[in-house]
Amino acid sequence: MKLENLRPLSGNGKRLYVETYGCQMNVGDSEILVSIMQDEGYRYTEDIAQADVILVNTCSIRDNAEQRIWGRLREFHRYKRARKGLVVGIVGCMAERLREELFERETVVDVVAGPDSYRELPRLVAAAAAGGHGVNVQLSQEETYGDIRPVRLDRNGVSAFISIMRGCNNFCSYCVVPYTRGRERSRDPQTILREAQELFSAGYREVTLLGQNVNSYRWKEGTAEAVDFPALVERVAGISPLLRVRFATSHPKDLSDRLIEVMASYPNICRAVHLPAQSGSDRMLAAMNRKYTRAWYLERVAAIRRRMPDCAVTTDLIAGFCGETAEDHAQTLSLMREVGYDSAYMFKYSQRPGTLASRTMTDDVSEEVKTARLNEIIALQNELSTASNERDMGNVFEVLVEGLSRRSSEQLCGRTSQNKMVVFDRTGETAPGDYVRVRITGCTSATLFGVAE
Ligand code: 5AD
Ligand code: SF4
Repeated sequence: MKLENLRPLSGNGKRLYVETYGCQMNVGDSEILVSIMQDEGYRYTEDIAQADVILVNTCSIRDNAEQRIWGRLREFHRYKRARKGLVVGIVGCMAERLREELFERETVVDVVAGPDSYRELPRLVAAAAAGGHGVNVQLSQEETYGDIRPVRLDRNGVSAFISIMRGCNNFCSYCVVPYTRGRERSRDPQTILREAQELFSAGYREVTLLGQNVNSYRWKEGTAEAVDFPALVERVAGISPLLRVRFATSHPKDLSDRLIEVMASYPNICRAVHLPAQSGSDRMLAAMNRKYTRAWYLERVAAIRRRMPDCAVTTDLIAGFCGETAEDHAQTLSLMREVGYDSAYMFKYSQRPGTLASRTMTDDVSEEVKTARLNEIIALQNELSTASNERDMGNVFEVLVEGLSRRSSEQLCGRTSQNKMVVFDRTGETAPGDYVRVRITGCTSATLFGVAE
């Protein structure tokens, strides 16, 4: 190629450091934006002291997530003093929510980019390097980054996330996501399949299909038949029986019998459904705008278990939503017992500006009561997780090896189809990416221990 045909790259070898907060979607987005920046000549570094550009991929889901990031931004002043010309960018949900206010509240910030403007990042960073501010918080109806090949940052080389859709249309009354990530849109299935195939060819053995509500995935082009979520999962699972397929998150209102059928007919679609309940009280579910009842939720769990008795069910729960009484809280505890969750993410309600709850309801459960209820929920879940793990004792599971255990180089760790972590003694030539049959001989509430068969 002639030199004059080479487009100048704005990165020009500058080093990019990325810090990621929040959910798995953000982990996936960081991999996309690193890819975009690398294409413009930036080099990725894991050493913040070397960075010419620091990007912080942020989370707004609860106030404490934002507070943690504010604290971190204050620390960046010392990197700015040490490295002249350093550009600091805030990207993701906090950027979308707070926009120009970020520049006013924290002088260390040079760039603000919302979740749909990552293609603009090289330009925004260049504007900031030239002494200005770079800002783009435009949300899009179409952007899926479908054509971008994410740069894998986790590098266990075994499991990877694939983002299949963006945004959310559900407007649960407590949730800021529809405002920070915009409307729901699905990604072209061809690009999803290509990404999964490439990961498998590179040695990956597990992909997790990601979206805020994967069950409403839908792609329609021209006269071709529409591809919905069960069809998509089936195609990804068809790549190889050696490729495990997981997905998150499922909204209980949209979890279909067809999806359960597809899961049941492919052993490599993992026996694990993350089904956020949020509350066990119909009154709270209505106030939260969840669009299902406790009875509907329990029926969905029963449908999963009828077809797949060994399927793990996990959840998200919120303690102390607006108007929650002791009776509502008791309903949440009773739902937990009734389902017998294998694990759960549990949170105190945090009011988010702009949401329906913040506009029309009162955050009237005191901090002390929220804390007490959350602690009860956590204590109960510990019991349930332990009970779930104890039920596995003596049984044999196929474990996908991820690497060495954190405690000892003589032990390996990996996950069961149910997504439980298993630690077992290293034997022979076993390597990450191998499947090993492991008999469970011990457990805590968080981990299974076993021996390879
Ligand atoms: N306060 C507390 N928890 C929340 N979540 C979402 N919004 C809030 C909020 N305002 C929780 C829900 C959701 C998970 C990702 O975060 O349980 O499923
Ligand atoms: Fe938030 Fe509800 Fe959408 Fe989940 S489904 S991102 S909780 S609005």
